[in-house]
Amino acid sequence: MRSMIKTNAAVKPTEWLGRIPIHVGIIMDGNGRWALNRGLPRIEGHRRGVEALRITVCAAIEFGLRYLTVYSFSAENWSRPVEEVSDLMGLLKRFIRNDLAELQRAGVKIKVIGDRANLNPDILAILQEAEAATCGNARLTLVVAFNYGSRQEIAAAARVMAAKAAAGLIDAAEIDADLLTQHLDTAGIPDPDLIIRTSGEQRLSNFLMWQAAYSEFVFLPIHWPDFDRQALADALAQFSARERRFGGVTLSPEGAKVGG
Ligand code: IPE
Ligand code: IPE
Ligand code: MG
Repeated sequence: MRSMIKTNAAVKPTEWLGRIPIHVGIIMDGNGRWALNRGLPRIEGHRRGVEALRITVCAAIEFGLRYLTVYSFSAENWSRPVEEVSDLMGLLKRFIRNDLAELQRAGVKIKVIGDRANLNPDILAILQEAEAATCGNARLTLVVAFNYGSRQEIAAAARVMAAKAAAGLIDAAEIDADLLTQHLDTAGIPDPDLIIRTSGEQRLSNFLMWQAAYSEFVFLPIHWPDFDRQALADALAQFSARERRFGGVTLSPEGAKVGG
């Protein structure tokens, strides 16, 4: 965090204040390629990725986002070489240890989504500590998707609902999209309005698939370590120019001209 907020920057948030998203999700991709392009080990890309995350959290607060969900480690990322997995775990621990006090001061509430079963006890403890320490904050909720996979999350929700139905707590006929939503890790968090992915890849990679039903997408060609305040501002500007319909029709003549 530290002195990341620059007052003399070119971006003027007021330019898009009318259409600021409430919730932005970010697939922070491209750390490895960023490092490879510079002849550096992949871990260096991940380290610089943590710096980009700090800058992004500051910018999210400045721009008035209420929720920022960052994909930090997928359920499938365990398939990477053990050294890389261990580097990533180390970075997460260090990020929380070093930045928790600053996040707390900035009014950031930390919420972790993803499967907590079988996590290393020290990682689990640090995640729980971060959530407990910041649970009273309300400025920005930083949702950390860790050991997260959308399919696993939906399957877990189905399992819980099935158990409740078997125990007679709910009627199977009551199960609908709303009830399933309430059983996801993201229960209580509004769906992401905007999902940003860096690195040029254009896929979800098991990130918030259910929640992204009506999200806008911005795919950026830059790698995650190069993401900064200006990149977030540009993505928000793209978002503000989008016409969201949620399956309905546009009633304003201006919208009708563009979309028909
Ligand atoms: C994103 O960068 C970080 C994680 C997935 C944890 P990558 O490590 O996927 O970088 P690339 O995609 O290999 O360049
Ligand atoms: C998605 O990136 C996961 C995170 C950013 C944490 P990956 O690099 O794992 O995704 P794929 O393998 O390119 O789809
Ligand atoms: Mg990747």
